[in-house]
Amino acid sequence: MRKPLIAGNWKMNGDMKTSYKLITELKEGILNSDVETLICCPFTLINEVSTLIKGSNIKLGAQNMHWENKGAYTGEISADMLKELDVEYVILGHSERREIFLETDSIVNKKVLKALEKNIKPILCVGETLEEREKKQTKDKIKEQVLRALENVDENEIINVVIAYEPIWAIGTGKTATPVEANEVVGFIREILENKYGVDISEEIRILYGGSVKPENATEILNKQDIDGALVGGASLKANDFISIINF
Ligand code: 13P
Repeated sequence: MRKPLIAGNWKMNGDMKTSYKLITELKEGILNSDVETLICCPFTLINEVSTLIKGSNIKLGAQNMHWENKGAYTGEISADMLKELDVEYVILGHSERREIFLETDSIVNKKVLKALEKNIKPILCVGETLEEREKKQTKDKIKEQVLRALENVDENEIINVVIAYEPIWAIGTGKTATPVEANEVVGFIREILENKYGVDISEEIRILYGGSVKPENATEILNKQDIDGALVGGASLKANDFISIINF
């Protein structure tokens, strides 16, 4: 049985003051203990958020990391640095990193392998552009991204990977894939995993949907058979919205 995961991706937002208020309100408002709740905050807030969530069921994640252990990589953060702060998850291959910072599938693969080696659970993001969707290339794109990112990830390790399907055209735009569309692509990702790892393993892997998830559409999306949770951007910055998504 896959436990739903609702992850908030704060992106480049938040400060000490807003984190304190947001986490305090979340701790009071989250009623749904059947859901795993995760906050992926900016690096500078990890220490603060780690302290604030102590004693709650909220887990801690980062939004990126480098694939090398250490060295001359100005501005980068390693897996060991994240581990030292009790980070349990890391978002990898988010479309904003792929598009703005030109991260390739090969870079994403190196990061996934390093995170797994260091016992940090990767949330691997995949998704198509609007142009690719209109040209009916969604499945080809998703298949390539999933398989390239999971090269050399073996059967024992894949269980610790979470995949997030985030159609790029639905991120921050207010447009959501319909629950049926989202479920179809998420189901397709499970098929890819089944072909690579077998049915038993593929049934254990959590696959999330992300892209303009809001209190108004969360219940319908999260009740879809193949969708095991959500990766939430904007709405995770508002306590009431995030709470109502978690309590779906
Ligand atoms: P929004 O929920 O703001 O569309 O962002 C989605 C996202 O990119 C989460 O990683």
